[in-house]
Amino acid sequence: MIIPFAPGGPTDIVGRLLAESMSREIGQPVVVENTTGAGGTLGAQRVATARPDGHTVLLHHIGMGVIPTMYRRLAYDPVGGFEPLGLVTEVPMTLVGRKDLPAANLADLVALMRSSGDRFNLADAGIGSSSALCGALLANAIGAKPTVIPFRGTGPAMQEILGGRVDLLCDQTTQTTEYIRGGAVKVFATPSRARIATLPEIPTTAEAGLPGFEVTVWHGLYAPRGTPAPVLARLTASLQAALRDPRVVQRFTEIGTAPVPQEDATPEAHRRFWMADIAKWKPIIEATNGYAD
Ligand code: MLT
Repeated sequence: MIIPFAPGGPTDIVGRLLAESMSREIGQPVVVENTTGAGGTLGAQRVATARPDGHTVLLHHIGMGVIPTMYRRLAYDPVGGFEPLGLVTEVPMTLVGRKDLPAANLADLVALMRSSGDRFNLADAGIGSSSALCGALLANAIGAKPTVIPFRGTGPAMQEILGGRVDLLCDQTTQTTEYIRGGAVKVFATPSRARIATLPEIPTTAEAGLPGFEVTVWHGLYAPRGTPAPVLARLTASLQAALRDPRVVQRFTEIGTAPVPQEDATPEAHRRFWMADIAKWKPIIEATNGYAD
Protein backbone atom coordinates (compact mmCIF):
# COMPACT_ATOMS: atom_id res chain seq x y z
CA MET A 1 0.00 0.00 0.00
CA ILE A 2 1.60 3.21 -1.18
CA ILE A 3 0.98 6.29 0.96
CA PRO A 4 1.94 9.44 -0.97
CA PHE A 5 2.75 11.53 2.15
CA ALA A 6 5.16 11.31 5.08
CA PRO A 7 4.98 8.73 7.89
CA GLY A 8 3.03 9.79 10.98
CA GLY A 9 0.70 12.20 9.15
CA PRO A 10 -3.04 11.97 8.46
CA THR A 11 -2.90 9.80 5.31
CA ASP A 12 -0.36 7.51 6.92
CA ILE A 13 -2.52 7.15 10.05
CA VAL A 14 -5.59 6.13 8.01
CA GLY A 15 -3.55 3.92 5.66
CA ARG A 16 -1.78 1.99 8.40
CA LEU A 17 -5.05 1.26 10.24
CA LEU A 18 -6.54 0.02 6.99
CA ALA A 19 -3.48 -2.02 5.99
CA GLU A 20 -3.34 -3.72 9.39
CA SER A 21 -6.99 -4.75 9.18
CA MET A 22 -6.76 -5.79 5.51
CA SER A 23 -3.69 -7.92 6.34
CA ARG A 24 -5.72 -9.88 8.88
CA GLU A 25 -8.61 -10.33 6.46
CA ILE A 26 -6.50 -11.26 3.42
CA GLY A 27 -4.20 -13.45 5.50
CA GLN A 28 -1.05 -11.94 4.05
CA PRO A 29 0.85 -8.81 5.09
CA VAL A 30 -0.16 -5.52 3.48
CA VAL A 31 3.09 -3.58 3.64
CA VAL A 32 2.85 0.20 3.84
CA GLU A 33 5.41 2.26 1.93
CA ASN A 34 5.56 6.04 1.99
CA THR A 35 6.47 7.37 -1.46
CA THR A 36 6.48 11.09 -0.80
CA GLY A 37 7.04 14.35 -2.62
CA ALA A 38 5.50 16.70 -5.21
CA GLY A 39 2.18 17.06 -3.37
CA GLY A 40 1.35 13.35 -3.44
CA THR A 41 1.92 12.96 -7.18
CA LEU A 42 5.08 10.83 -6.88
CA GLY A 43 3.29 8.16 -4.84
CA ALA A 44 0.32 8.24 -7.20
CA GLN A 45 2.66 7.91 -10.18
CA ARG A 46 4.30 4.88 -8.62
CA VAL A 47 0.94 3.10 -8.41
CA ALA A 48 -0.36 4.24 -11.82
CA THR A 49 2.76 2.75 -13.40
CA ALA A 50 2.93 -0.40 -11.23
CA ARG A 51 2.18 -3.88 -12.52
CA PRO A 52 -1.66 -4.23 -12.25
CA ASP A 53 -1.60 -7.55 -10.43
CA GLY A 54 -3.34 -6.60 -7.19
CA HIS A 55 -0.10 -6.37 -5.21
CA THR A 56 0.14 -2.57 -5.33
CA VAL A 57 -2.60 -0.21 -4.14
CA LEU A 58 -2.70 3.51 -3.40
CA LEU A 59 -4.31 5.14 -0.38
CA HIS A 60 -4.79 8.72 -1.51
CA HIS A 61 -7.18 11.55 -0.74
CA ILE A 62 -8.87 14.70 -2.05
CA GLY A 63 -5.64 15.22 -4.01
CA MET A 64 -7.10 12.73 -6.54
CA GLY A 65 -9.88 15.32 -7.04
CA VAL A 66 -7.68 18.39 -7.47
CA ILE A 67 -4.45 17.10 -9.07
CA PRO A 68 -6.05 16.42 -12.49
CA THR A 69 -6.78 20.18 -12.73
CA MET A 70 -3.86 21.60 -10.75
CA TYR A 71 -1.11 19.77 -12.62
CA ARG A 72 -0.99 20.38 -16.35
CA ARG A 73 2.05 18.10 -16.79
CA LEU A 74 2.35 14.76 -15.05
CA ALA A 75 4.27 11.59 -15.87
CA TYR A 76 1.11 9.50 -15.32
CA ASP A 77 -2.60 9.69 -16.09
CA PRO A 78 -4.18 11.08 -12.87
CA VAL A 79 -7.63 9.70 -13.74
CA GLY A 80 -7.28 6.92 -16.31
CA GLY A 81 -4.27 5.41 -14.54
CA PHE A 82 -6.37 4.01 -11.71
CA GLU A 83 -9.19 1.65 -10.82
CA PRO A 84 -11.03 3.08 -7.78
CA LEU A 85 -11.78 0.46 -5.11
CA GLY A 86 -13.82 2.58 -2.73
CA LEU A 87 -14.11 5.62 -0.51
CA VAL A 88 -12.60 5.08 2.94
CA THR A 89 -13.39 8.05 5.14
CA GLU A 90 -14.13 11.78 5.21
CA VAL A 91 -12.11 13.94 7.59
CA PRO A 92 -12.71 17.52 8.76
CA MET A 93 -9.85 20.02 8.69
CA THR A 94 -8.75 22.49 11.35
CA LEU A 95 -6.75 25.69 11.11
CA VAL A 96 -4.04 25.38 13.75
CA GLY A 97 -1.24 27.75 14.65
CA ARG A 98 1.84 27.72 16.83
CA LYS A 99 0.86 28.06 20.47
CA ASP A 100 2.29 31.57 20.88
CA LEU A 101 0.84 33.04 17.69
CA PRO A 102 -0.46 36.51 18.67
CA ALA A 103 -4.08 35.88 17.60
CA ALA A 104 -6.97 34.87 19.85
CA ASN A 105 -9.51 34.01 17.15
CA LEU A 106 -10.02 33.82 13.39
CA ALA A 107 -10.59 37.59 13.04
CA ASP A 108 -7.25 38.26 14.78
CA LEU A 109 -5.57 35.65 12.60
CA VAL A 110 -6.91 37.25 9.42
CA ALA A 111 -5.71 40.69 10.55
CA LEU A 112 -2.29 39.27 11.44
CA MET A 113 -1.94 37.49 8.10
CA ARG A 114 -2.96 40.62 6.19
CA SER A 115 -0.58 42.91 8.06
CA SER A 116 2.41 40.52 8.15
CA GLY A 117 2.72 39.89 4.40
CA ASP A 118 5.40 37.31 3.62
CA ARG A 119 6.72 37.41 7.20
CA PHE A 120 3.78 35.11 8.03
CA ASN A 121 4.57 31.42 7.38
CA LEU A 122 2.11 28.81 6.24
CA ALA A 123 3.13 25.14 6.18
CA ASP A 124 1.68 22.67 3.72
CA ALA A 125 2.36 19.33 2.03
CA GLY A 126 2.90 20.67 -1.49
CA ILE A 127 0.56 21.58 -4.34
CA GLY A 128 -2.00 18.82 -4.64
CA SER A 129 -2.23 18.24 -0.88
CA SER A 130 -5.27 19.15 1.19
CA SER A 131 -3.23 21.46 3.45
CA ALA A 132 -2.05 23.40 0.38
CA LEU A 133 -5.59 23.59 -1.01
CA CYS A 134 -6.96 24.83 2.30
CA GLY A 135 -4.08 27.29 2.82
CA ALA A 136 -4.45 28.71 -0.69
CA LEU A 137 -8.22 29.11 -0.31
CA LEU A 138 -7.72 30.89 3.01
CA ALA A 139 -5.00 33.23 1.67
CA ASN A 140 -7.11 33.93 -1.39
CA ALA A 141 -10.29 34.58 0.61
CA ILE A 142 -8.60 37.16 2.84
CA GLY A 143 -6.16 38.63 0.31
CA ALA A 144 -3.04 37.61 2.28
CA LYS A 145 0.31 36.60 0.78
CA PRO A 146 2.05 34.36 3.34
CA THR A 147 5.33 32.56 2.71
CA VAL A 148 4.40 28.94 1.98
CA ILE A 149 6.75 26.29 3.36
CA PRO A 150 6.16 22.89 1.74
CA PHE A 151 6.89 19.60 3.52
CA ARG A 152 6.58 15.97 2.41
CA GLY A 153 3.46 15.66 4.50
CA THR A 154 1.72 17.42 7.36
CA GLY A 155 3.38 15.02 9.85
CA PRO A 156 6.70 16.88 9.51
CA ALA A 157 4.86 20.20 9.05
CA MET A 158 3.14 19.69 12.40
CA GLN A 159 6.52 19.23 14.11
CA GLU A 160 7.44 22.75 12.98
CA ILE A 161 4.16 24.16 14.34
CA LEU A 162 4.77 22.39 17.67
CA GLY A 163 8.34 23.73 17.72
CA GLY A 164 7.04 27.27 17.11
CA ARG A 165 9.07 27.68 13.92
CA VAL A 166 6.10 27.94 11.52
CA ASP A 167 2.94 30.00 12.08
CA LEU A 168 -0.03 28.14 10.59
CA LEU A 169 -1.16 24.80 9.16
CA CYS A 170 -4.54 23.66 7.87
CA ASP A 171 -4.68 19.98 8.72
CA GLN A 172 -6.95 17.03 9.32
CA THR A 173 -8.43 16.09 12.69
CA THR A 174 -6.87 12.64 12.31
CA GLN A 175 -3.61 14.35 13.23
CA THR A 176 -4.65 17.58 14.99
CA THR A 177 -7.17 16.23 17.53
CA GLU A 178 -4.64 15.20 20.17
CA TYR A 179 -2.64 18.44 19.81
CA ILE A 180 -5.79 20.56 20.05
CA ARG A 181 -7.02 18.64 23.12
CA GLY A 182 -3.59 18.83 24.74
CA GLY A 183 -3.30 22.59 24.10
CA ALA A 184 -0.10 22.13 22.08
CA VAL A 185 -1.45 24.28 19.22
CA LYS A 186 -3.83 27.21 18.88
CA VAL A 187 -6.97 26.30 16.93
CA PHE A 188 -8.94 28.97 15.04
CA ALA A 189 -11.71 27.29 13.05
CA THR A 190 -12.77 24.33 10.96
CA PRO A 191 -13.41 24.97 7.25
CA SER A 192 -16.38 22.55 7.38
CA ARG A 193 -20.09 23.15 6.81
CA ALA A 194 -20.88 22.08 10.38
CA ARG A 195 -18.96 21.86 13.64
CA ILE A 196 -16.94 18.69 14.30
CA ALA A 197 -18.82 16.30 16.62
CA THR A 198 -15.68 15.37 18.57
CA LEU A 199 -14.37 18.97 18.83
CA PRO A 200 -17.63 20.95 19.15
CA GLU A 201 -15.98 24.00 20.72
CA ILE A 202 -14.26 24.93 17.43
CA PRO A 203 -16.32 27.35 15.28
CA THR A 204 -16.72 26.81 11.56
CA THR A 205 -14.95 29.38 9.38
CA ALA A 206 -18.40 30.72 8.38
CA GLU A 207 -19.41 31.15 12.03
CA ALA A 208 -16.10 32.87 12.71
CA GLY A 209 -16.69 35.40 9.93
CA LEU A 210 -15.31 33.75 6.79
CA PRO A 211 -18.19 32.29 4.75
CA GLY A 212 -17.75 30.56 1.39
CA PHE A 213 -14.56 28.75 2.34
CA GLU A 214 -15.01 25.00 2.79
CA VAL A 215 -12.69 21.99 2.50
CA THR A 216 -13.28 18.47 3.83
CA VAL A 217 -10.73 15.76 3.10
CA TRP A 218 -11.73 12.33 1.83
CA HIS A 219 -9.58 9.24 1.43
CA GLY A 220 -9.96 6.57 -1.24
CA LEU A 221 -8.24 3.32 -2.20
CA TYR A 222 -7.05 2.68 -5.78
CA ALA A 223 -5.41 -0.03 -7.87
CA PRO A 224 -3.50 0.51 -11.12
CA ARG A 225 -5.59 0.51 -14.30
CA GLY A 226 -5.84 -2.95 -15.83
CA THR A 227 -6.00 -4.82 -12.52
CA PRO A 228 -8.20 -7.88 -13.29
CA ALA A 229 -11.84 -7.63 -12.19
CA PRO A 230 -11.74 -10.62 -9.75
CA VAL A 231 -8.71 -9.06 -8.03
CA LEU A 232 -10.48 -5.69 -7.77
CA ALA A 233 -13.51 -7.44 -6.27
CA ARG A 234 -11.29 -9.22 -3.71
CA LEU A 235 -9.57 -5.96 -2.72
CA THR A 236 -12.89 -4.14 -2.43
CA ALA A 237 -14.26 -6.91 -0.21
CA SER A 238 -11.21 -6.57 1.98
CA LEU A 239 -11.58 -2.78 2.16
CA GLN A 240 -15.24 -3.19 3.16
CA ALA A 241 -14.30 -5.73 5.84
CA ALA A 242 -11.70 -3.30 7.22
CA LEU A 243 -14.30 -0.54 7.40
CA ARG A 244 -16.52 -2.85 9.50
CA ASP A 245 -13.62 -3.90 11.74
CA PRO A 246 -14.48 -2.72 15.30
CA ARG A 247 -10.82 -1.77 15.90
CA VAL A 248 -10.83 0.48 12.83
CA VAL A 249 -14.22 1.97 13.70
CA GLN A 250 -13.08 2.74 17.26
CA ARG A 251 -9.75 4.30 16.28
CA PHE A 252 -11.30 6.35 13.44
CA THR A 253 -13.87 7.67 15.89
CA GLU A 254 -11.21 8.64 18.43
CA ILE A 255 -9.41 10.74 15.82
CA GLY A 256 -12.48 12.64 14.66
CA THR A 257 -13.62 10.63 11.67
CA ALA A 258 -15.60 7.46 10.78
CA PRO A 259 -15.48 4.77 8.11
CA VAL A 260 -17.87 5.55 5.25
CA PRO A 261 -21.05 3.44 4.83
CA GLN A 262 -20.41 0.18 2.95
CA GLU A 263 -22.33 1.36 -0.13
CA ASP A 264 -19.77 4.17 -0.62
CA ALA A 265 -16.84 1.74 -0.43
CA THR A 266 -17.42 0.27 -3.89
CA PRO A 267 -15.65 0.96 -7.22
CA GLU A 268 -18.82 2.31 -8.88
CA ALA A 269 -19.85 4.63 -6.03
CA HIS A 270 -16.31 5.87 -5.58
CA ARG A 271 -15.84 6.55 -9.28
CA ARG A 272 -19.02 8.71 -9.22
CA PHE A 273 -17.86 10.52 -6.06
CA TRP A 274 -14.34 11.05 -7.44
CA MET A 275 -15.55 12.41 -10.82
CA ALA A 276 -17.98 14.74 -9.03
CA ASP A 277 -15.11 16.00 -6.86
CA ILE A 278 -12.92 16.71 -9.90
CA ALA A 279 -15.83 18.65 -11.45
CA LYS A 280 -16.45 20.54 -8.19
CA TRP A 281 -12.85 21.74 -7.77
CA LYS A 282 -12.07 22.51 -11.43
CA PRO A 283 -13.77 25.94 -11.59
CA ILE A 284 -12.46 26.88 -8.13
CA ILE A 285 -8.86 26.07 -9.09
CA GLU A 286 -9.26 27.86 -12.42
CA ALA A 287 -10.74 30.94 -10.74
CA THR A 288 -7.91 31.14 -8.20
CA ASN A 289 -5.19 30.28 -10.74
CA GLY A 290 -4.13 27.51 -8.37
CA TYR A 291 -1.90 25.57 -10.77
CA ALA A 292 1.29 23.72 -10.00
CA ASP A 293 3.18 25.27 -12.92
C1 MLT B 1 -0.52 13.99 4.98
O1 MLT B 1 -0.83 12.82 5.13
O2 MLT B 1 0.63 14.39 5.21
C2 MLT B 1 -1.58 14.97 4.54
O3 MLT B 1 -2.75 14.32 4.20
C3 MLT B 1 -1.07 15.83 3.42
C4 MLT B 1 -2.10 16.87 3.06
O4 MLT B 1 -2.98 16.58 2.25
O5 MLT B 1 -2.02 17.99 3.53
